[in-house]
Amino acid sequence: MGKQWLLLVMNVWLFLPGAYARQTNGDIPHLRRQGRSAQMMVHNRPFLMLGGELGNSSASSLAYMQPIWPKLQQMHVNTLLTPVYWELMEPEEGRFDFSLTDSLVQSARQHNIKLVLLWFGSWKNSMSCYAPAWVKKNTRRFPRAKNEQGKSEEILSAFDKRNLEADQRAFTALLQHIRETDSREQTVIMVQVENEIGMLPNAREHTTAADALFKQDVPAELLRYLQQHKQELVPELKARWDAQGTPSKGNWETVFGKGLSTEEIFQAWHYARYANAVAEAGKKAYPLPMYVNAALPRPGKLPGEYPSAGPLPHLMDIWQAAATAIDVLSPDFYNPDFKYWNDLYVRKNNPLFIPEIRFEPADAAKVFYAIGHYGAMGFSPFSIESTDKPEEEPLGKSYNILQQLSPLILEHQGSDQMEGVLLDERTGSQEWKSGTYTLKISHDYTLGWSPAAKDTSWPQTGGIIIQTGEDEYIIAGTGLVVTFSVSDKSDIAGILQADEGIYVEGKWQPRRRMNGDQDHQGRHIRIPVGEWGIQRVKLYRYN
Ligand code: DGJ
Repeated sequence: MGKQWLLLVMNVWLFLPGAYARQTNGDIPHLRRQGRSAQMMVHNRPFLMLGGELGNSSASSLAYMQPIWPKLQQMHVNTLLTPVYWELMEPEEGRFDFSLTDSLVQSARQHNIKLVLLWFGSWKNSMSCYAPAWVKKNTRRFPRAKNEQGKSEEILSAFDKRNLEADQRAFTALLQHIRETDSREQTVIMVQVENEIGMLPNAREHTTAADALFKQDVPAELLRYLQQHKQELVPELKARWDAQGTPSKGNWETVFGKGLSTEEIFQAWHYARYANAVAEAGKKAYPLPMYVNAALPRPGKLPGEYPSAGPLPHLMDIWQAAATAIDVLSPDFYNPDFKYWNDLYVRKNNPLFIPEIRFEPADAAKVFYAIGHYGAMGFSPFSIESTDKPEEEPLGKSYNILQQLSPLILEHQGSDQMEGVLLDERTGSQEWKSGTYTLKISHDYTLGWSPAAKDTSWPQTGGIIIQTGEDEYIIAGTGLVVTFSVSDKSDIAGILQADEGIYVEGKWQPRRRMNGDQDHQGRHIRIPVGEWGIQRVKLYRYN
């Protein structure tokens, strides 16, 4: 009897939320697959990250941060990406100061904002500027990468265990601290390991250790990966291996051929091993989801001219093979080819998370496309605090809509019932077949009604469309015109009714009935350029 009672008490205790969190990993923030996407789970519920990343130095001063929090709220930002600086967190070896992070977490909670911590550890934009003074000054103990001329760079070598171990110790201490102070509240939901890792000014390091390893055989683990994933390798890597006759043994040049690309592959393997070892150490303390981000190369640049060997699309296999503790490989957008790069990043089951994009008005359109089309987990313009007029930011208007639609988006994330569009003067229209209907979603200026439609370049517009019933769609965004047809042409599609409205805590509240001029007497659904809205549309068929 006594034993049974004890078991009962233990069961009740185990299922109390706090106790559960202490007992298992099931309840801490984690990623969950849903269809083609992955979802960020917080308190076991999916969460859409409407993010913004701080400028690099903002989080080093609490006073500087103070006016930023209300700005974030005005823009409907629900997730802040904020650096954690190794130099300030471990000013002396083994003495950790978490006061900055603790205060950030407190303020984030007060403002109902989640945090993604950016670990500015061994590398930040290739360099090692955030290494503490005791690391920077002791180059004998913490060796630097060397360039082709044998000259040291201010970049910690990826080939030295002492560098790695120092980083691991600090990162583990951080994650341990977050676990102790935040696993119940779950304000911190994800961690970025390092920042824009990549070798400059050469494709690979030229230390003695690196030179020696480059001449040795490719690690068996990578060769096994190549064999096992033969059919799914990214074409960029497969072409190099195929050209060598898909060898199952040999040094880097035997397996991938001679040249800068092979040097980059070699360096990528070692960067990824290092980042993985840092992530693994941190996850042992507190297994939050972790990702790495990449500086995308400009066209025509060679490895070393751009930061070589980062988690770039042509190196996805290398990073995935070497860094199994890293959950996501992410692009940072400072160039215009948004669709091109995203298409590359969603290969190989890589979930899309956009931790950085230049903060500009077009983000307000791009975010709809990222979330609607790719099922992105989150989106986060860089230097989000730089605005002086948060209430007027186009991004804030899109986030307002996305926040309202979050439950619906999360329900359909990764499915065929949700689509995103991104439109400009070149991509005037997109078609989407969904259920028995085909939707033609066009840029508002294709109507030619606005005088600005004559301009050579149009503002980018975007939207998200979700099919919520056999004849029902939610259409949201800015600068759109939507027409409908029955896909097999057996009937004509008509607009039965369209309501503009808002969602309050997931519940639809219709406002205006959009008829007459607003739907061009039943011909289309429209949200003009410069306006943001959500419309719930019911269709019918006639002939
Ligand atoms: C990308 C980096 O990841 C950021 O930390 C910052 O340096 C920006 N570039 C600046 O444009």
